Amino acid sequence: MKIAVVGTGYVGLVAGTCLSNKGHHVTCIDKQDRIIDNLNQGIIPIYEPELAELVLRNKNKNRLKFTTDFASSVAEATVVFICVGTPPDAEGRADLSAVYKVAELIGKAIKGWTSVVTKSTVPVGTADKVREIISGVTDVEFEVVSNPEFLKEGDAVKDFNHPDRVVIGTRCEKAAALMETLYQPFVVNDKPIIVMDNRSAEFTKYAANCMLATKISFINEMANLAERVGVDIKQVRRGIRADVRIGPHFLYPGAGYGGSCFPKDVEALVQTGKDANYELRIMNAVQEVNQSQKEVLFAKVQQRFPDMKGRTFAIWGLAFKPGTDDMREAPSVVLIKSLVAAGAKVKAYDPKATERAKDELVGLEDSVSLLDNGEDCLVGADALIVVTQWDEFRVPSFDEMRESLKEPVIIDGRNMFSPSELEGLGFEYYGIGRGRSIKKM
Ligand SMILES: NC(=O)c1ccc[n+]([C@@H]2O[C@H](COP(=O)([O-])OP(=O)(O)OC[C@H]3O[C@@H](n4cnc5c(N)ncnc54)[C@H](O)[C@@H]3O)[C@@H](O)[C@H]2O)c1
Repeated sequence: MKIAVVGTGYVGLVAGTCLSNKGHHVTCIDKQDRIIDNLNQGIIPIYEPELAELVLRNKNKNRLKFTTDFASSVAEATVVFICVGTPPDAEGRADLSAVYKVAELIGKAIKGWTSVVTKSTVPVGTADKVREIISGVTDVEFEVVSNPEFLKEGDAVKDFNHPDRVVIGTRCEKAAALMETLYQPFVVNDKPIIVMDNRSAEFTKYAANCMLATKISFINEMANLAERVGVDIKQVRRGIRADVRIGPHFLYPGAGYGGSCFPKDVEALVQTGKDANYELRIMNAVQEVNQSQKEVLFAKVQQRFPDMKGRTFAIWGLAFKPGTDDMREAPSVVLIKSLVAAGAKVKAYDPKATERAKDELVGLEDSVSLLDNGEDCLVGADALIVVTQWDEFRVPSFDEMRESLKEPVIIDGRNMFSPSELEGLGFEYYGIGRGRSIKKM
């Protein structure tokens, strides 16, 4: 099948590549020349495990192409995926200007029946609007399908290739059948392809992300209480996750959720609620808990080091989660800005996100050094703060760490290490919800 994918970011590049890997002829389109030039030279603009190899393999087989030439690629395609960004507008609603712009261009470009698929996360009613825009500029027949994407950065290729489910929103049998043909090779082990109407499909994506964000804020709230009443949240987690009604996923306390999806999607649904005169009280609370959770690491540092002037802190991990270079809404940025405002210096390392971190930390260059490895950050630092749980941080040499740090203090924002083991090694260890309060110095 000939497929066009508009928007070659985290979702579009992964979707286009994985579809081409099943044998389809895919053209990925982006408005940014730089992204397309790089891809045509084999340079992958984002970090995502397994992606680079797959792009190169399918590019070499001539079934994956990259272009800024919108009209001819869309004209040739039977299915056109819209994968452009839907960032928050000034009020927190999803900004749909890129989706609508692309819809108009698709309408002007199509030559025969086309399935236009919104894969971007879009609020209820967007498919109707996209249909209206396309109808306004063409007489050619088409269908609009809502096909929200559930992949997660860091596992995007794996998730796209093995989805838990595929949601297809359309009332058109022809379009539904086409989408089922497209996705059948990806669904194994009885994982479902769920066909529903457009509006329900659009809502499903927001409901899923809001549920996941709720689980994170829930466990963070439990952790904060655990800490105050001498309870270890890790043990509590073991106790609750064994309940099949609760399950083990998304119950890791930390420095708050970030990334390009949860913060914006929770807020967008809150706005949808406002527009429908219905206040989403749980989601308001989820946001409030998350906002304060992003400040928890700084509060711990401040409690241990009340005067931060002249202090230097080592930070391990900048990306909003491991496995990605995405810095959007990363808790590390909130922490670093607070440390610098308090007069501290920062030496930070991330295996993949350093380049993107530079854009988020503009103006702080005098106080923040981004280094090439975690060990160098430790030398002469007053404490280590772990913000992102990259695998390479899991088994450090604690002996060397103790030698390098000025004071053997670890503030572990992801509960990577064992408090008792580290205390046995002579460290002062502070996790999230690990049942002990920080000593005031
Ligand atoms: N990133 C994720 O993990 C994830 C997961 C599921 C769903 N989503 C949703 O998918 C959508 C895309 O997210 P993303 O993270 O891939 O965004 P992104 O910012 O990484 O990529 C979007 C791309 O679209 C391009 N673009 C914008 N306007 C264009 C136009 N008129 N013509 C051609 N290209 C255009 C941009 O240049 C950019 O490269 C969003 O709605 C997001 O909420 C993202």
